[in-house]
Amino acid sequence: MSKFFFLSYLFVLSTPVFAQSIDQRVDDLLKKMTLDEKIGQLNQYNGDWEATGPVTKDVEDKMTAIRQGKVGSILNITGVAHTRAFQQAAMDSRLKIPLLFGQDVIHGYSITFPIPLAEAASWDLAAIQQSARVAATEAAAGGVHWTFAPMVDIARDPRWGRIMEGAGEDPYLGACIARARVKGFQGNGLGSLDAVMACAKHFAAYGAAIGGRDYNSVDMSLRTLWEIYLPPFKAALDAGAATFMNSFNDLNGTPATGNSYLLRDILKGQWHFSGFVVSDWGSVGEMIPHGYVSGKEQAAQVALTAGCDMDMESRCYTTSLSTLVQQGKVPVSLIDDAVKRILHKKFELGLFDDPYRFSNADREKATLNKAEHVRAARDMADKSIVLLKNEGHLLPLSTQLRSIALIGPLVHSKKEMKGFWSQDIGALNDVVTLYEGMQQQAGGAQLLYAKGCDITDTSRAGFAEALRVAQQADVVVMAMGERADMTGEAKSKADIHLPGVQEELIKAIQATGKPVVVLLMAGRPMVFNWTAEHIPAILYTWWLGNQAGNAMADVLFGKYNPSGRLPVSFPREIGQIPIYYNHLNTGRPAKDEKDVFYVSAYTDLYNSPRYAFGYGLSYTEFKYSNLALSRKSIHNNETITVTLDVKNTGKYTGEETVQLYLRDVVAQPLRPVKELKDFAKVKLAPGETKKISFTIDKSKLSFYNDKLELITQPGEFQLFIGSASDDIRLQDSFQLVE
Ligand code: GLC
Repeated sequence: MSKFFFLSYLFVLSTPVFAQSIDQRVDDLLKKMTLDEKIGQLNQYNGDWEATGPVTKDVEDKMTAIRQGKVGSILNITGVAHTRAFQQAAMDSRLKIPLLFGQDVIHGYSITFPIPLAEAASWDLAAIQQSARVAATEAAAGGVHWTFAPMVDIARDPRWGRIMEGAGEDPYLGACIARARVKGFQGNGLGSLDAVMACAKHFAAYGAAIGGRDYNSVDMSLRTLWEIYLPPFKAALDAGAATFMNSFNDLNGTPATGNSYLLRDILKGQWHFSGFVVSDWGSVGEMIPHGYVSGKEQAAQVALTAGCDMDMESRCYTTSLSTLVQQGKVPVSLIDDAVKRILHKKFELGLFDDPYRFSNADREKATLNKAEHVRAARDMADKSIVLLKNEGHLLPLSTQLRSIALIGPLVHSKKEMKGFWSQDIGALNDVVTLYEGMQQQAGGAQLLYAKGCDITDTSRAGFAEALRVAQQADVVVMAMGERADMTGEAKSKADIHLPGVQEELIKAIQATGKPVVVLLMAGRPMVFNWTAEHIPAILYTWWLGNQAGNAMADVLFGKYNPSGRLPVSFPREIGQIPIYYNHLNTGRPAKDEKDVFYVSAYTDLYNSPRYAFGYGLSYTEFKYSNLALSRKSIHNNETITVTLDVKNTGKYTGEETVQLYLRDVVAQPLRPVKELKDFAKVKLAPGETKKISFTIDKSKLSFYNDKLELITQPGEFQLFIGSASDDIRLQDSFQLVE
């Protein structure tokens, strides 16, 4: 062939019109695959390093299975060297279909960021998106294609350990954060070398486990499912989430893994989801103990039929699907649909063009632990801290103090700062403890230290030393709370009080008369009533990740004015749970905290939470004024512009999260006493005023009726502008007319 014709041939082939689409490439590959090779793509094994669930003793060697084309994905394998080795095994298979590497990159990969619930407390969507962006950039450089995040489960029960992993109790805030996290993880799109596939989990309603007991049943009306638990999933899908993961729980008697209402009717039907669904760890097989199926074959049949495309670790698909096809119980078309969904993502990631494109040692070395990423972690940590109390403006601390006593079991801890679902990839020594952070910023103050007590141990042997140290200091800062492994998966607790004898130690230190600041570190809301009522300054610092110590010092010394607002209600007592702000009014609402006369109230406790959804203080104060509505009545297709002024009337620059709540006063079915419908976080210098503007449209007035139709009903809407759900500064009302 002459050179001209050869070049013309190459040109023609390379032009888009002749380059095959991904769909065409998938179809071509599918035609070449045997049934076993198709089933192999639906099978996900755990790697050999660590397990995030109960391990099945294998009858087969995983590398051999990969070479035989029996594995489509591996989880818990990270690092270029390790992923490359497993991918090489896949390249030994007949069709050389690359593996997907999945990992729980929940809040950071090498640099650990604050736990998701802490990030949610920032209400800073740009910072949250940036956190996910950094995690994806690092993970992708480490050979990871897919993170099992964001976890978008709404949670109203702090006994449930996985409350730490989500965005709290509110569907609107949860949806905004789900969107930000998916965009952060997937960045400029799959195939970018700094993007990973997101995975919206756990579909669905996992956070409503009865009694807050992990893996327990969920029983709720479909209206509650649609109103409260599904919105963050829909937001994740609309943001382009590549995958979903089903949850462990049964929903109204049907396990989510085999729930065709969730997976086929809603996700792949009404929502037209084109990605793929992975089971949770072993959840296909767990339909046997659920009592939903009789054995592995039926489990495989039910799960695949319901719409679960990939089987994580249960081995039901790899051992049963071939037989089920031969018995005519599972049509090949169902398998083909699942395989095509998975292959499509592998093509999108560019893995067929270069299976090792994410496994580049030089890029891994150059990308992890970058200074700019560390700065992002500190920024996120600063913004996640919530100031719960600051009597007498004890905070911020002066840098002229002579001595500061650091007391408590978490002053020197590094591992705990990382929280649950952190990776062991970055060096633990990169974590900044509270002590180290204080050393950087305490100026000339002498730092004194005593542990005082352990986290759960009941020994009081350390109290005397702690009292002695406290007596010597100008001010005492106490670092109290949980261990990182006390809140997370399979970490539900019936007692969520501050553990051990920690509150006794706080009382003893308070009795010295020294000014006391208490930092509370945990993955969940805890109960700490004595501290809440007697300690002048309290900061909830959750688990802040690598930059914990620096962020706590930033806030303690006023380098950063705390701006966090609680994404979840804090109960006064466990007996109040579930407690959440967007509740119905009932026919006998209590008139006030003391009203117990034939009203919906406890006779032994206030109805109100210890701290409300949206609550958080600042070192400065903000004044709200000039609320104006562009109109006082609208039709469905019209909008109202809401404006108001916010002024910083204090002496510190600070950020205020202005929250807009609505109440549909009369409706069938009933509507909550208030619902978050918008918010704006604004930074103001002392004396500065800014105008805030919100738009109310039909989407903020709609709700589901008993037929699950999204409707609006004419009538009065009350509008609340607040600094918290229980701190309403301005209010008005408007009419929705036919
Ligand atoms: C765990 C979790 C899930 C996680 C998966 C893989 O059991 O439920 O969130 O992504 O297994 O580690």
